[in-house]
Amino acid sequence: MASAASATRSRAPSGPVKFLRSSIGAKSVMALTGLILTAFVFGHMVGNLQIFLGPEPINRYGHFLQSLGELLWLIRFVLLATLIVHIASAARLIVLNRRARPIAYVLDDSVQVTFAARTMPWTGMILLAFVVYHLAHFTLGTVQPELFSHHDELGRHDIYAMVVLGFQDWFVTAWYVVANALLALHLSHGVSSLFQSLGVTTPSLRWPLVDLAGPAVGTAVLIGNLAIPLASWLGLLELPYGAM
Ligand code: HEM
Repeated sequence: MASAASATRSRAPSGPVKFLRSSIGAKSVMALTGLILTAFVFGHMVGNLQIFLGPEPINRYGHFLQSLGELLWLIRFVLLATLIVHIASAARLIVLNRRARPIAYVLDDSVQVTFAARTMPWTGMILLAFVVYHLAHFTLGTVQPELFSHHDELGRHDIYAMVVLGFQDWFVTAWYVVANALLALHLSHGVSSLFQSLGVTTPSLRWPLVDLAGPAVGTAVLIGNLAIPLASWLGLLELPYGAM
């Protein structure tokens, strides 16, 4: 009996594994990976906004990224791994929360949960579908293949034409608008709560700026990411190749 008990004890996770499987561990991992993904979204948005400067800067930028070669593949690998770990820790937290509270509250006025917080799993799943679509659209060129083969006069991939012509399709534009609005909602809760998960704020020590950080990042991403499809669709960006 004693030896069976000690065998069970020795198989029980300990140290870092125990921490990662705990609720606090899963929250910390979700916060760290969320921070990395937010930094990518922000950087990607700033890079994309160069489209308002005309075809030259955005095509040069795209060419520069492609010229990174193996480093680009390393960045892609890190991003993909970060996304997978972010989703896995979200799933772990949902399971742990269900185990801790098997019967859902019917109505609890003492707990103020915002719409953004309640919908995090749903906005997260729709965003995952958007990322798959987006990669098929602009990285693999399978959504609008006729727009993927354009090259500018310097022989570079014509990203300006691909994006501006791509958003002439109302369905594509509408899907980007919906997905990026949900991304803004996801970030508006996620960015503020990651500070709490990382211990920067506690219920007794709140920094007002931290509460504002989420909505501020969400609003910036909303404006920046919606500007491109909407400006293209509304004809505010010059159409290449004399397209009508
Ligand atoms: C209106 C908003 C957006 C526009 C106009 C846009 C535009 C683009 C373009 C043109 C590329 C291809 C770059 C190239 O070929 O060099 C690209 C790649 C990518 N975008 Fe976006 N993007 C938008 C929003 C997003 C969002 C919200 C996410 C993530 C949540 C995202 C994630 C990615 C990823 C992961 C890639 C692949 C990068 C690679 O090739 O390794 N994008 N995007």
